[in-house]
Amino acid sequence: MSTLIEQAHSREWFYSYELPDGSTTPTYHGIDIQAIHDTRWRMLESCLDKNLGHERNGLTALDLASHQGWFAWNMARSGFSRVVGLDARQSHVDDSSLIANIYGTDHLTFRRGDIHEQSPDQLGRFDVVLMLGLLYHLENPVGALRVCRALCNRLCIIETQIVPGMTGYVDYGSYQYVRPLKGSFGIIDETGETHGPEASITGVCLVPSLDALMWLLEKVGFSGAQVLAPPDDAYEQLRYHKRVMVAARV
Ligand SMILES: C[S@@+](CC[C@H](N)C(=O)[O-])C[C@H]1O[C@@H](n2cnc3c(N)ncnc32)[C@H](O)[C@@H]1O
Repeated sequence: MSTLIEQAHSREWFYSYELPDGSTTPTYHGIDIQAIHDTRWRMLESCLDKNLGHERNGLTALDLASHQGWFAWNMARSGFSRVVGLDARQSHVDDSSLIANIYGTDHLTFRRGDIHEQSPDQLGRFDVVLMLGLLYHLENPVGALRVCRALCNRLCIIETQIVPGMTGYVDYGSYQYVRPLKGSFGIIDETGETHGPEASITGVCLVPSLDALMWLLEKVGFSGAQVLAPPDDAYEQLRYHKRVMVAARV
């Protein structure tokens, strides 16, 4: 029977995990993609330090769209007492659970689920909710933001691709009833890629503008939200404002 580490080496990975024997997991996008994960983890950790302090004991976290678990695993290693990862793809749940087994992190668990079907009744509420790299793969991003708010007790960190926004005024039914645009969405077609490990599960993707995201966070019930500044050496998408990481407070 193969060891857990041999099993990890026989699979393909989105993340470069450092395994306890000093080896790393083989990645299918090449090592360059790790830069986006490293940038996001640094931004996330710095945000957690500022908002929650360094002591994480007693705190819980939920990682929505946990993929193969790298952010949830980092959260568990950074001291959170309980971390749950959720992803729509069972293969990701299996891979993440293998990593948790290799490290013996029994306060880190993974389950399969569609974000649109989650509620506090099933999952409970968490001090920190992560939704990284998911919003722009969804056909109901507003519903997903409502789920984030419902599941969150303190801090929600959302990282997403954004599109250039439209601004201006609309004759909303009549020239006498003019309304300002609060933001906009771009539609991206992933219908031919739903088999992909990072893709949408329906293929219909609504990508928000930054104005739309910030306005919606307030409307779904967060008390405030702030765009996190990327470090100078950030991965290009974050550095050049094609993606943003936002911290929303309950
Ligand atoms: C681009 S990856 C992001 C993974 C990870 N959060 C990160 O930032 O590295 C998108 C992930 O969302 C998952 N996903 C797509 N649609 C979903 C849905 N409706 N509910 C839950 N997970 C979903 C995919 O399986 C995939 O793991």
